[in-house]
Parts: sequence; C-alpha cells; structure tokens
Amino acid sequence: MKHRVLSTVFYEASTRTACSFQSAALRLGGTFLHIDASSKGGGSSTKKGETLEDTVRCLGCYSDAVVLRHPEEGSVGRVMEAMHAAAASTGGKRVPVINAGDGTGEHPTQALLDLFTVCDELGIPPLSSASKGFGKQKLVVTLLGDNKHGRTVHSLSELLSRSYNSTLGLDDLELRYVNPAGLEMPQYVRDKVSAAGGDGVTQSSPSSLGAALEGCDVLYVTRIQKERFDTPEQYEAVKGSYVVDCALLEDAPKDMIIMHPLPRVDEIATEVDSDERAAYFRQMENGMFVRMALLALMLGKA
Ligand code: NCD
Repeated sequence: MKHRVLSTVFYEASTRTACSFQSAALRLGGTFLHIDASSKGGGSSTKKGETLEDTVRCLGCYSDAVVLRHPEEGSVGRVMEAMHAAAASTGGKRVPVINAGDGTGEHPTQALLDLFTVCDELGIPPLSSASKGFGKQKLVVTLLGDNKHGRTVHSLSELLSRSYNSTLGLDDLELRYVNPAGLEMPQYVRDKVSAAGGDGVTQSSPSSLGAALEGCDVLYVTRIQKERFDTPEQYEAVKGSYVVDCALLEDAPKDMIIMHPLPRVDEIATEVDSDERAAYFRQMENGMFVRMALLALMLGKA
C-alpha cells in the first residue's frame, strides 16, 4: 500500500475497528486520514450542515478507500451508491467505501474476522492451518446477548450461513439465539440466514443458556447496545440480565470457544479471561490481520 491512503470516518465511537484499520494500512506501507465525527459531527463539516454524502465524497477525492461508521442503518450503502452514481455521471473518482458499522444494520468486516477466528480456533480448513482438525460436520454457534440491535451478530449469522458449506465444507450449521425478552434476532435476519444457508441450517431459541451450551462449539457474546434504546428505562429493564462466569462454564464443553466483538461491559466476568476457551482477545488481534488481508486485496499493489 505504499503511497496509498485510507480514510477512516467515524460518526460513532470506536477503538478496535478504527485502530485496526489504521494499523493495517500502516503495516502494509500505506497511510491514513482520520475523521472523528462521533460527537455531533466532531471535527467534520457535518457541524456546518454538510451531508454525509458530500463529506464522504470529499474523502474519496483525497484517498483510495473510505472506511465509514455511521449510526443510521443503511447509511453506508446509501452513501456509496450516491458517490458511485455521481462518479458515473461526472467522470469523478470512484473509491470503495467499507462499512465499519451502520447503526443496528451490519458490521461486515467484523464478521470476516469473526469467521476467521472461529475457523482458526476450531481448526476448520481452509481458514485454519492448525494440525488439529475440527473433526465434525456440524458447527453449533450460540449467540448470547442483544440479538435485536447487535450489528455484529446480524452480519455473522448471515456470513456463517453463506459459508459453512461452500467455503468450510461442513454439512450443517446450528444457530442458537439466547437473549433477554424483547431483544430477539430480527425476522429479516433469520430470513436471510435461511435463504443463504438452505436445508443445512437450523435456527432455534433455547429456553435456557444451559441448554444452549450443550454440544456448543462457539459461544458468541455481545453487550446490550445501550445507545440503541429509546429510553434509559428500557435499557435499565434488561441491563445485567446475563453474565458468563466460571461457574456457568464448568458444565460447558471443554473444546468450546468464547468470543465477543468487544467492548464488554459486564456480560463476561473478568475471571473468564484466563480460561483457555476465552478467545476474545485473540479475536481482537485477528481483526488487524483480517483487515490487512482485505486492504491488500482491495488496494495492494501486486
Ligand atoms: C462492535 C460494534 O461496534 O458493533 N464493536 C466492534 O466493532 N468491535 C460491538 C459493540 O459495540 O458492542
């Protein structure tokens, strides 16, 4: 990526996604421009009333790709279409826009690093070089947390259902959704999972976390997305309603892994960090490597 420039434009808080993209660009020999627009437009011209489309179009002139995070679902796709339509009619530059999270919608690069982590940890080829093979034809994933608002679980469910058979060569995928009442996986995501995964995919909502952990390969935990609730009272009503701790994990499969996109609030006790099944810090590091691979594919010089 020598002489290549990446823009990271964030209208919401980020530690891992922004920094891992920036580090990835630097490690590949490129550089980056960053706009922190998280506080009412922050350092961007959004404060002056500029539209998101125009801001991103501007960054597109100065860089080779734009990584965009925005609180509005569907915003990133909308901006990219507008930018590319404008480029088509004016002959302007057309740069890729990477979705780094659009509200409660999607977080596709997180899904890529999550899929890589699942395979690397469990030994599922071709994304794992581990000598220890997975040895099963069915992958069981429990998604515990805010399945309604969590964009990471929306993207991961769909990516798993698209790839378990075609890329990973597995026969079956079981997704178990466990969440506080009212925070269920949206029907449109379930429909996408079924459509992409076909007959080999099962989706269920076990009645207890204990039941969901029986024969489970991956426990994927998310925090309750406080910022997505309409009122503080609605958040308070579900806050702290699940905690993964060592007592719970005593009966869980010994070869299960525990993942979390982070940040965590209180849903995984820190005592779990030293359990060898805790994969979330390795997962976090994988984010940089997977984003390096993505940038190399998109922007790298052969
Ligand atoms: C997630 C996000 O922003 O959606 N974080 C991340 O990118 N690693 C998860 C979250 O904020 O809960």
